Amino acid sequence: MSLATVILAAGKGTRMQSDLPKVLHPIAHAPMLHHVMHAAADLSPDRNIVVAGHGSDLVSDAAHQIDPTCQVVLQTQQLGTGHAVDQARAALSDFCGIVLVLYGDSPLFQTSTLQALVDKLNDVDVAILGFDAKDPARYGRLITTGDALDRIVEFKDANDEERAITLCNSGVMAAKSDLLFDLLSKLENKNASGEYYLTDVIEHARTAGKTAAVVICAEDETLGVNSRVELAQAEAHFQSRRRRAALENGVTLPAPDTVFFAFDTVLGRDVMVEANVIFGPGVTIENNATIRAFSHLEGAHVADGCVVGPYARLRPGAELGPDVKIGNFVEVKAAEIAEGAKVNHLSYVGDAQIGKHTNIGAGTITCNYDGVLKHKTIIGENAFIGSNTMLVAPVHIGDEAMTGSGSVITKDVPDQALALARAEQINKDGFAKRLMDRLRAIKAKKKDS
Ligand code: UD1
Ligand code: CA
Repeated sequence: MSLATVILAAGKGTRMQSDLPKVLHPIAHAPMLHHVMHAAADLSPDRNIVVAGHGSDLVSDAAHQIDPTCQVVLQTQQLGTGHAVDQARAALSDFCGIVLVLYGDSPLFQTSTLQALVDKLNDVDVAILGFDAKDPARYGRLITTGDALDRIVEFKDANDEERAITLCNSGVMAAKSDLLFDLLSKLENKNASGEYYLTDVIEHARTAGKTAAVVICAEDETLGVNSRVELAQAEAHFQSRRRRAALENGVTLPAPDTVFFAFDTVLGRDVMVEANVIFGPGVTIENNATIRAFSHLEGAHVADGCVVGPYARLRPGAELGPDVKIGNFVEVKAAEIAEGAKVNHLSYVGDAQIGKHTNIGAGTITCNYDGVLKHKTIIGENAFIGSNTMLVAPVHIGDEAMTGSGSVITKDVPDQALALARAEQINKDGFAKRLMDRLRAIKAKKKDS
């Protein structure tokens, strides 16, 4: 049977205290909406609908980044979750199949859990994902008789007896499209919030003689984000799940709790990530590479056998070939560093290309920016850049060439040449001693007077 997802993302999220629509707040550097869309995409739905309202232009752009074919429908007034789903009615008027309703503020659902819910529709007419809450707080409570779900009561509308129930609504619901839209047209807003609750669909289904059931899932998948505190909790859940996956896939993390991944971090086998490493988006680390402590990486590709850090910074466009070494306090940006090359200490390498097995001495800087434009530094293979060389781009250093320490290189250096671009040294015999004697004499005279 075909599948449509409807993701609710119109709410303002007042408790976030933010100008940004709630569903665009990030977890692991991706908006919550993207996490939900990725989990849904793995079910290969035929249609994706996103219901937008607050900040709808921003929400629509974010949705189209993940699925350019998704349909964004507007809910101009946020009259409740049921009203929100109803906004997809026109977009799905030609659709016949299963509708899966997801919330844009609940970013931790796993695809397998969503699949189990969809599969439940083989047995019942309406199914929801529920969980046993350690602290049920303001979640909707599930009223059941045996395996049957009778109704859902929102916290605000619940009496004490109902509030004591710990079986709660995650918000995720699945039903056949024709039934769902029939039930939605029966909703009323006579409740504590004055909203059209999606959750009331269950009671209407049962009254109409349909069956409803709960599929139980793990509580940590269901976390709904309504505040920054909950956003931080969702981030923590994501990170701990991601760390566990890395460990299970053959990555060594001696201090997993101190390593922070992005939503898209890719790590190979036998990678070692030491303590306090932060991954921004777009990082791939290939097999056998080591990322040493306190490094920060984003938009970088690190090939087999590299060693990066401690205290290294790889910025977008850092492309490290096999067995490259990047040492402490080195920043690399938009630079290709070929196999076996080394940049071991205190350097900035930006807008550059460095050939195989070249050694970049301590304190080397590619002076890539003239205040207006960026320029490129190209260094050949097996070159040796002396410590504290300033490479004023655009500049080209040949294969097997050298630069003397402290040089300011402003002209190209041919293959195998040595470039010296620093003031020549003069030695004055005995001068140091004569100077010190004189200075000490002056000091002694001052003390006496
Ligand atoms: C909802 C459920 C509650 C469940 C909880 C789980 C209802 C009535 N209640 O409560 O049973 O335990 O989620 O997290 O469904 N939204 C719209 N338009 C609206 C209203 C909401 O798009 O008019 C979107 C929000 O942006 C949000 C999602 O729907 O992404 C959930 O809305 P929210 O107001 O947070 O619902 P809860 O009160 O948390
Ligand atoms: Ca919520």
